[in-house]
Amino acid sequence: MRLKDKIALVTGAASGFGEGIAKRFAQEGAKILVADIQDEAGRRVASEIGEAATFVHCDVTREADWKAAVQEAIDQFGHLDIVVNNAGYSHYNQPLLDVDEAEFDRVYAVNVKSLYLSAQVVVPVFRAQEGGCFLNIASTAGVRPRPGLSWYNSSKFAAIGITKSMAVELAPEKIRVCALNPVAGETPLLERFMGEDTPEKRAAFKGTIPLGRLSTPTDIANAALFLCSDEAEFLTGVCLEVDGGRCI
Ligand SMILES: NC(=O)c1ccc[n+]([C@@H]2O[C@H](COP(=O)([O-])OP(=O)(O)OC[C@H]3O[C@@H](n4cnc5c(N)ncnc54)[C@H](O)[C@@H]3O)[C@@H](O)[C@H]2O)c1
Repeated sequence: MRLKDKIALVTGAASGFGEGIAKRFAQEGAKILVADIQDEAGRRVASEIGEAATFVHCDVTREADWKAAVQEAIDQFGHLDIVVNNAGYSHYNQPLLDVDEAEFDRVYAVNVKSLYLSAQVVVPVFRAQEGGCFLNIASTAGVRPRPGLSWYNSSKFAAIGITKSMAVELAPEKIRVCALNPVAGETPLLERFMGEDTPEKRAAFKGTIPLGRLSTPTDIANAALFLCSDEAEFLTGVCLEVDGGRCI
């Protein structure tokens, strides 16, 4: 019960890594706000967790949705301890000039502007409570970029920069800000990273990971659990690779 009595809001929790994080946190005693734009899938995740979870429709690119989600956490559970900024989006793997402006804007809205909005809405709540924890799901793409993903890669460089900047500014107020950098994992986003889902493309991706496999939601959830628990109370600004050695 490493998160006993903690209240955690997890964005993008209807699928993939976010679903894994929400379920793992609940196993360790946390109460969970499952936040996503996919209502049906989000409700499924919340009901699979049970009483400890509530689904909230939240588009992370909209400030009003952030305010409503945080209010829901406070109304339902009384306070908010952890925000996992996991929701993410990518253009397909393609030459950088082929990504149109609307797609670029969406990548940056979901992966970067969401972090600004989470700060705007959540920092005042954490301040009033004299502490709190943000965990941003960035990527190895923001450390060791792959070709064909330029705008996605750069959005994750931004996420890492925001993590470290917020960490150093908010540390005096006991607000910790960390990130995880997962390597390619088995989620619906994988097809976009590869361009197309073929056995050859999968083999090529695996070939770049020394431990010889893709990441799983469980790998990411276990690292998230540690960074959001009190065991990590002296860690902030840490951007931890969960990557089977990809970034060595
Ligand atoms: N899968 C990988 O290979 C990989 C590797 C490194 C980092 N990541 C990052 O992990 C995070 C989770 O992605 P995933 O791989 O689990 O993919 P996923 O597609 O399974 O999950 C992403 C979730 O985010 C939600 N989402 C998208 N836009 C949203 C918005 N505007 N508001 C709220 N929710 C929104 C989607 O509905 C979905 O449920 C992302 O930030 C992604 O960039 C993924």
